[in-house]
Amino acid sequence: MRKITIAIDGYSSTGKSTVAKQLADYLGYVYVDSGAMYRAVTLYSMQNGIISKENFDVEKLKESLPSIHLKFIKEEAWNKAHIFLNGKDVENEIRNLDVSEFVSPIATIHEVRVKLVAQQQQLGLEKGVVMDGRDIGTVVFPNAELKIFMNASAPERAQRRYKELVERGETVSFNDVLKNIEDRDHIDTTREDSPLRKADGAIEIDNSDMNLDDQFHTVLQLAKDRIARRI
Ligand code: CDP
Repeated sequence: MRKITIAIDGYSSTGKSTVAKQLADYLGYVYVDSGAMYRAVTLYSMQNGIISKENFDVEKLKESLPSIHLKFIKEEAWNKAHIFLNGKDVENEIRNLDVSEFVSPIATIHEVRVKLVAQQQQLGLEKGVVMDGRDIGTVVFPNAELKIFMNASAPERAQRRYKELVERGETVSFNDVLKNIEDRDHIDTTREDSPLRKADGAIEIDNSDMNLDDQFHTVLQLAKDRIARRI
């Protein structure tokens, strides 16, 4: 059966990664979480005095880019690939709210995007890939056979993310989570380089009132149709 490229974009906490992962597992495709790459660069920047609440040293970030090595590694026991930053598994650490606070400013930097987009395109060279992010259908794979744009209301998204963080044992307030989502939506949609927008030809899905199963089957049907060239 022919393999296609599936690009899933959308706002924060719209369930992109959940559906992308389900789809990849079902189809036997590779799932790539592009947000994890921006998060790992952010973690590096926090650990190396590049970004904090007081400063953002953009020049140092640009100079450091050749020293930032990212790799996805999947082990049998894990349900998804983990991201490694310079040889260290940082899959868990990058999900913290403090990383979320700095990731969108980091993702505005053109040189960061150039580096990560090139690596993402490399990962998708052989098709059979499901990638989620903000610019996958617009910049990374503008020719993807299937493009999805996911949305849900901000309070619904904040509720989902809050639950996720609490279940991971983080002490966070709902209002901080909501504010972070709203701030990131703003930065992600208004930045100059590759702002988040619905790609040409993308199918929009608002999943505010959809359960995971309905969402998965909706997207799976679209994927099957594209694979069979029915639509
Ligand atoms: O999980 P969540 O949807 O909250 O975010 P994520 O996918 O982990 O992405 C974190 C941040 O990275 C986003 O808010 C964007 O600022 C940035 N990002 C991006 O600019 N381009 C992408 N392709 C993926 C993420």
